[in-house]
Amino acid sequence: MNLIVAASGGVAALKTPTLIRRLEEAGHKVRVAATEAAFHFITPLSLAVAAGSEVFDQASWFKADGQAKHIDLARWADALIVSPATADALASAAQARADDVISALCISGIPKIIWVPAMNTAMWQHPLVQKNVETLKTIGHAFLGPVSGNLAAKGEAAGIGRMLEPEEIVAALPSLFKSQDLSGKHVLVSAGPTREYLDPVRFISNPSSGKMGYAMAEAALARGAKVTLITGPSALTPPVSANTQKVETALDMLEALKGSFASCDILVMTAAVADWRAKHVATEKQPKMGEEQTLELIRTPDILSTLKPLRSKQIMVGFAMETDKGVERAADKASRKGLDFICLNYPTQEGTSFGGDDNQITVVKPNGDSEKLARMSKRAIADIILDKALALKQS
Ligand code: CTP
Repeated sequence: MNLIVAASGGVAALKTPTLIRRLEEAGHKVRVAATEAAFHFITPLSLAVAAGSEVFDQASWFKADGQAKHIDLARWADALIVSPATADALASAAQARADDVISALCISGIPKIIWVPAMNTAMWQHPLVQKNVETLKTIGHAFLGPVSGNLAAKGEAAGIGRMLEPEEIVAALPSLFKSQDLSGKHVLVSAGPTREYLDPVRFISNPSSGKMGYAMAEAALARGAKVTLITGPSALTPPVSANTQKVETALDMLEALKGSFASCDILVMTAAVADWRAKHVATEKQPKMGEEQTLELIRTPDILSTLKPLRSKQIMVGFAMETDKGVERAADKASRKGLDFICLNYPTQEGTSFGGDDNQITVVKPNGDSEKLARMSKRAIADIILDKALALKQS
């Protein structure tokens, strides 16, 4: 592919020459652009040497040589990778400013724009920065990272905002060039935990973060699907383009899913639904009484089993968390709940526990056939699940 790598002004610009090299090693043709702020961190010469060509910067842009360089470059490119992407670069692009080389390239007709953010946690999480990210996602821009890890500033605690390593960026690129193969399809996703209240201030729940379900929703949107996300309480920001319904209890989740099930093509049930709820929910906060207390619990409805008889054309995918006899139990669940396949994972394994960015799943069919996948990001797993669901839908 023809790629423009553009650096904005952050410490991680030091990694831009390595990224250029890795992309070239992977067979891409690379040209380079940089804002003036980037030159506080990396010299034009380092970038030019890495790319083996002139750097497109403010000076070359305004050279009186009769060329509209940003347009020429945009026509040549298959994609623009902004790495590192600062909060400022995101803001300029979200406003279509065109007063620096990156924001100008962003509105010059490049088919694919990919942001690789790197910034302080507080900046990345700021609602205005997130608003800009969502604005750019809404018009189809892609994001790689940031991830959690050590940040540049001395003494700064590790947190979200660290840029992906150049090798990770190169590895993730192919997944961003997915076709719109889910266009016209409706993907229904459940995510997060449920809360089963004992009284107005106490509930039974579990540590599900919602990350797998939100990654599922993002992946389906990127492939052109209409997405309905039914989510239990989660700290994550739902993708703007999804139709998101927030619920709390298993009963609420069932009702919400019933509302969209008939029109969906694919249901992916990642939610960690609580299995029990209080038989009697107190309307007032209950004081503690004595040294022991017995809770009377009743089963929550099994959502998948309830939807099973309503099924017409839908492909149904579930998740199974097991600590023992995984494939056997998962196959049994898939068969009882009427699933096309179930994604088995082991929450007690290192790197795949609740709340992580990665997962490792084994795809299990009701007949016991199984395929163990490597550990990878939840977003990459989401694409594989969608590939498999779509293949079944089309068979
Ligand atoms: N699930 C559901 N309704 C429930 C509980 C779970 O639809 N009340 C779904 C989950 O979203 C998941 C699948 O069923 O996709 C398997 O969840 P899991 O908790 O492993 O299954 P259970 O049937 O609750 O099995 P176990 O007895 O092992 O808890």
